[in-house]
Amino acid sequence: MARNKIKQGTKLPEHIAIIMDGNGRWAKKRLMPRSFGHKQGMERMIGLMERAFELGVNYITVYALSTENLRRPQEELEGLYNLIRNHFTSYMDRICAKGVRLRAIGDISLLPQDVQDILSSSEQKTAGYAGKGVNIALCYGARSEIVRAANLAVERGEKVTEESFSKLLYTGDQPDPELIIRTGKEVRLSNFLLYQAAYSELYFSDKMFPEFSDKDLEKAIVWYSGRTRRFGKTDEQL
Ligand code: IPE
Ligand code: IPE
Ligand code: MG
Repeated sequence: MARNKIKQGTKLPEHIAIIMDGNGRWAKKRLMPRSFGHKQGMERMIGLMERAFELGVNYITVYALSTENLRRPQEELEGLYNLIRNHFTSYMDRICAKGVRLRAIGDISLLPQDVQDILSSSEQKTAGYAGKGVNIALCYGARSEIVRAANLAVERGEKVTEESFSKLLYTGDQPDPELIIRTGKEVRLSNFLLYQAAYSELYFSDKMFPEFSDKDLEKAIVWYSGRTRRFGKTDEQL
């Protein structure tokens, strides 16, 4: 049975982005290896996606690996790649079964070839879907996304506008995230969606990502719903 919707009248973001931080500290506190934290984090990520779609959110972007994270010890990176190798396809088949388009955003060519193949195959399976999407940011950095878009414009000999430029970003055909959630107690964007976040509401949680529950997601959405989004105007103009 579908769980209750959140409070009637709650404004729902169309696109939620999540900086999934705190897996390592969560595991450390339990005297477990960081890889255990990443595994729990992956399961939580799937749970949150399911809940968000159930609530009526259309797009979810998750920050899974930054370009800067590639500086981590190889052993940790291999652990993350193994999670993709062992679990990604079945999890994504579940999430995407209801018409969700999957996109891996970032410099995917920096990943091992077999991991790239897994991502591409999930992307291809869902390429015909539109209107609902999951973006997994892997080897992602917002500055490099912006530079890539600028170079695309140069190659095409195009002069860009704010609108046409945003179409050259990985999220080009999607609305900007109205809500960005970061877990793990840090209050920064760590090179995430810098262009798209211009008017996002930013929600920071002290919880480590593996313990960020469906209820916490709902709390963040209710918080979002209570924000006055002025976009530069006065209250009287709204
Ligand atoms: C976020 O958790 C996931 C990745 C960056 C892959 P961390 O691994 O950064 O966890 P902490 O911040 O060390 O706790
Ligand atoms: C941000 O977390 C990147 C992801 C969640 C994938 P980090 O743990 O890498 O962020 P910093 O280094 O503390 O800013
Ligand atoms: Mg971290």
